[in-house]
Amino acid sequence: MTITVAGHKINVASFDEHFTCEQCDEIRTQIRKKFTPAEMTEELTKLSQKSTRTHNIINYYTRELLWDVKSEKYPLSMNDCLDSDDFLRHIKGQVDNDLYKISSNPKFSHFTLAQRMLQLLKLEGKNMRVAGNYPINSVKNVLSQHKGKNKVYYDYSCGWGNRLLGSMVSDFEYLGTDPNHKLVEKLKMMYNNFKQIKGSAKADIRCQGSEIVVPEWKNKVDIAFSSPPYFDLEDYQYGNQSIKDRNYTRWLEEYWKPTVINIKLYLKEDGLFLLNIKNTKEHALLDDMKKIAISCGFYYHYSDVLKTPTRPNVVARAGKISSDEEILVFSTLDVLDKSEATIKRLEEIEQAKIVDFNNRQKYYEEVYARHQEEIRIKKEYEDSLVTVDTNEWKKTIKSMKKYKKRKRVKAVPPSKQ
Ligand SMILES: C[S@@+](CC[C@H](N)C(=O)[O-])C[C@H]1O[C@@H](n2cnc3c(N)ncnc32)[C@H](O)[C@@H]1O
Repeated sequence: MTITVAGHKINVASFDEHFTCEQCDEIRTQIRKKFTPAEMTEELTKLSQKSTRTHNIINYYTRELLWDVKSEKYPLSMNDCLDSDDFLRHIKGQVDNDLYKISSNPKFSHFTLAQRMLQLLKLEGKNMRVAGNYPINSVKNVLSQHKGKNKVYYDYSCGWGNRLLGSMVSDFEYLGTDPNHKLVEKLKMMYNNFKQIKGSAKADIRCQGSEIVVPEWKNKVDIAFSSPPYFDLEDYQYGNQSIKDRNYTRWLEEYWKPTVINIKLYLKEDGLFLLNIKNTKEHALLDDMKKIAISCGFYYHYSDVLKTPTRPNVVARAGKISSDEEILVFSTLDVLDKSEATIKRLEEIEQAKIVDFNNRQKYYEEVYARHQEEIRIKKEYEDSLVTVDTNEWKKTIKSMKKYKKRKRVKAVPPSKQ
């Protein structure tokens, strides 16, 4: 049969016509139930200690906005489905028909009807797909490799709050931009609440696109890292979204390029720029965004793997297949030496997509040591242009070839001075 939901006609195979309006109301109230401030604060407190659970916090602050998101291929948002009695009757019909064994699987035996229906809504994937939240563990892992005093993290597209939370528990100062005004308001509340638990927490969240510069953030940032919009894959509904009135080419030029230029301005000399992105069927997003980063003066070093749980509807239909994504790592310094060992190591990372935090820690230590050495050599070289010792000169010239090229500094041999 055909039902109409938020103006869209959809065909459904299951439908419980006896499910009343009152029953629909009851189900949507239960599904939308918010945790109490006390339950949310308890989870915030545990998070500030060791826990990585953020379910109640996200439920309390941003879930209703996450459920407004529409995906490009699906006409409905989760909230559209919940608002419609007929859609709920359709889902109730699926429960009765035991779709995906939600009713007969002993794993779900203790579930209430509302919980079963919520499971099926999450598995829907035909007319609606619930947007994902970035895993807090990934944020913590990334930041844990760059820990230090007074470290600053810039999240160029804030999203639903897990990156803010991950930053605050990792003792980073958080700078964030997102044009979704409703979301920014909630994130600020989340920050203020966390600050009451951990007074040292610091965040500056701006309701604006990342393409607009914030002059006071210049040279402030140690690590810029986010999961920006995947062009038109999802519609976040509120504020001056990056896709507004832009085709793909304009989106790259008018949103992504200035965003990268701003990140370059905000980063300290040895700062890192990380990007979680993937190619989509329609657009080579990863390749195009990477090219722009390189054209703006970044060096691409390697990609890490972002482990993401396969979406439940994909598992249910196609079995467990990987939906892992990449995190591309850039910096403005060509910090990677050209030794065989380093090249081999990078090839290993590239091929095997190794997620081995011990080795990665070691790798970052090597990179950091090289940064320091290069800064020292650079300084030595610049000093050597004033007073030059012939022997030292030869050594300096050898080690500084690449800086000569980049900085266009003309080296003057001592004989000609
Ligand atoms: C939610 S994230 C992408 C999804 C990702 N999986 C996540 O949860 O982090 C995308 C965010 O980019 C934001 N956004 C849209 N246009 C933007 C812009 N011009 N500058 C910065 N952020 C933008 C959206 O409002 C949304 O919150």
